[in-house]
Amino acid sequence: MTNTATQIRPPEAQTGQDEFAQAVLDGLQSTPKAIPSKFFYDTKGSHLFEQICELEEYYPTRVELGILEAHAPDIAAIAGPDTTLVEFGSGAGVKVRLLLDALDAPRAYVPIDISRDHLLASSAQLNADYPDLSILPVHADFATPFDMPRMASSNVVGFFPGSTIGNLTAGEAEDFLHSAAETLGKGAGMVIGVDLIKDRDVLRAAYDDRKGVTAAFNLNLLERINRDLNGTFDLSHFTHKALFNETESRIEMHIEATQAQTVTVAGRPISFEKGERIHTENSHKYTVPGFSALAGRAGWSLRAVWTDENDWFAVLYLQRLDG
Ligand code: AVI
Repeated sequence: MTNTATQIRPPEAQTGQDEFAQAVLDGLQSTPKAIPSKFFYDTKGSHLFEQICELEEYYPTRVELGILEAHAPDIAAIAGPDTTLVEFGSGAGVKVRLLLDALDAPRAYVPIDISRDHLLASSAQLNADYPDLSILPVHADFATPFDMPRMASSNVVGFFPGSTIGNLTAGEAEDFLHSAAETLGKGAGMVIGVDLIKDRDVLRAAYDDRKGVTAAFNLNLLERINRDLNGTFDLSHFTHKALFNETESRIEMHIEATQAQTVTVAGRPISFEKGERIHTENSHKYTVPGFSALAGRAGWSLRAVWTDENDWFAVLYLQRLDG
């Protein structure tokens, strides 16, 4: 029996205020202006994201949970016994419980998350609920290579739900899958959630909900800049935009200036024309063959795929090609 309460102190992530300041200043001084979406997730942003997941319009969480509920036993049958489950971006830890409950005597759980508060809270809760499981949290940006804690078993399976891979460009997604294959090691599997191409109105509504939660999530980036980088953004002079880019097959989120203005960030003046935008997020939508080809280029083969009745979302089981 391995209760690892003492192990719930993750090493510090390499991401901090300096990285945020650099990315924001670089992004606001570029044309067009852009800020990477990973900076959404401060404490308030993480809470807003949890609220998004409860929205009627935001189908991905609900639909993926349905697929996982229906097929956790199939996933567990492929994974086999004594698994170490490695979750990229651990979030609230809800989905992983479906897998942990179905797996045959899982050995260890390695959550990787950029939000330290989130990571500690969900790890502590899981530790209380799964006393026989070693919980080895890693505080890191999962998109950049990191050191894995020493593995408790050789049967390693990655878990990357939520279609978070859609927030990466195709090139970044390929790089991520390459480095995940290296990190997880020979013979590893990977369970990954992928949002599929669908009716444009359904897609747009999911990223521009009636209650304005997604708008608040997007604009919270400006609040974070005001608080952490001495910014002077007046939020009433900016608005949330979500649009579908057909060429790139992705939802894009932007923050649009409703009037010409100059703000300062960390003492630097940043000017906006009326209608000028800051590109804050991409959320790529795939077909199963398209994603499977991308995964193939990164060293993974498609072992199984499960979808919902509308084919809105897919959960894929990938196997490392040399496995
Ligand atoms: C985390 N990620 C998969 C979400 C998405 O759907 O791209 C982030 C999000 N942005 C707006 N709503 C949700």
